[in-house]
Amino acid sequence: MKAIVYHEYGPAEVLRYADVEQPAVGDQDVLVRVRAASINFGDRAAMRGIPGLMRLAYGLRRPKATILGRDVAGTISAVGANVTGFRVGDAVVGEMEQRGFAEYVAAPETHLAVVPAAVTFEQAATLPVAGTTAVQALRLGEVEPGSTVLVNGASGGVGTFTVQVAKTLGAEVTAVCSTRNADLLRSIGADHVIDYTRADVTRGAGRYDVIVDLAGDHRVSEFRRVLTPNGRYVASTGAGGRLVGPLPRMLVVSAMSPFVRQRLRVLAAKRDIADLTRLAELVVAGKVTPVIERTYSLSEAADAIRFIEAEHARGKVVLTVP
Ligand SMILES: NC(=O)c1ccc[n+]([C@@H]2O[C@H](COP(=O)([O-])OP(=O)(O)OC[C@H]3O[C@@H](n4cnc5c(N)ncnc54)[C@H](OP(=O)(O)O)[C@@H]3O)[C@@H](O)[C@H]2O)c1
Repeated sequence: MKAIVYHEYGPAEVLRYADVEQPAVGDQDVLVRVRAASINFGDRAAMRGIPGLMRLAYGLRRPKATILGRDVAGTISAVGANVTGFRVGDAVVGEMEQRGFAEYVAAPETHLAVVPAAVTFEQAATLPVAGTTAVQALRLGEVEPGSTVLVNGASGGVGTFTVQVAKTLGAEVTAVCSTRNADLLRSIGADHVIDYTRADVTRGAGRYDVIVDLAGDHRVSEFRRVLTPNGRYVASTGAGGRLVGPLPRMLVVSAMSPFVRQRLRVLAAKRDIADLTRLAELVVAGKVTPVIERTYSLSEAADAIRFIEAEHARGKVVLTVP
């Protein structure tokens, strides 16, 4: 089968569209014929091996898993002996442990949710990492009807879901993005938009019950200035230095939190099939529409990542597998 393979860390040039062996299917596993996959911030980090700290898990000198990719949607083409929840032909979506940018991927059935008939594979593939991160960030922020929510980094994969899911929870949403994405954010439901190239949200007059920070471009103390007295700040950003990434911000949040009235939290999003299923239902209901800026074929994965890195994609970029 074909897959996007890499044997060293680096820019998109390290990726190869190559022939590899089809994965073996364990007794608890299903084999998914991948129809679409989506690219996440984490895939770019895994490709580059940056921040360096993540190499402790991904491989110190070179990547241990040589096929990139986490988010996939497709149809089941084989099931292991102990699989009870799925049958051959079922449409499924899920977050893999790497190895997703390929024609086939094997995964435990517990990693997968059903794709409803009204949801395309391209849409489904955007949901696992970005969509569930949005849901879990809003849950950690204890968003409820009437909450004022600031989404910093609103135009990316996680941000476009965060804005839409917050609206389904009855929140009043302020989205922070660059100039070219303001209209997009309004079109998906943001009540207010702040262009970060023209205004500094941490010096504005707005006060927010919840801040979901996906950009990490201000200090935590600066965000606290625009939080309500009982407000919640949710750090959900992987941005940071080349060596330790977001670790310093996480440490600041954890160290400061016990001493202030506002609640400061770090999100570590987890695979959650209930969240994924609920998101797919919101898509069916027309309450959430995945924002897909571009699709590329699997063989063009390197071009897709180059595009994201150069242009700051809006929403998600999807790979289709013919
Ligand atoms: N906590 C977790 O478990 C978890 C899980 C998944 C992802 N994440 C993190 O969430 C973050 C977002 O992920 P993603 O997949 O949405 O990335 P993405 O698609 O690359 O989007 C990032 C967005 O940030 C915006 N941005 C850049 N600088 C900004 C600034 N100064 N102010 C406001 N927005 C700015 C960009 O928008 P413009 O084009 O408008 O500049 C871009 O669209 C990443 O740091 C990722 O590591 C965390």
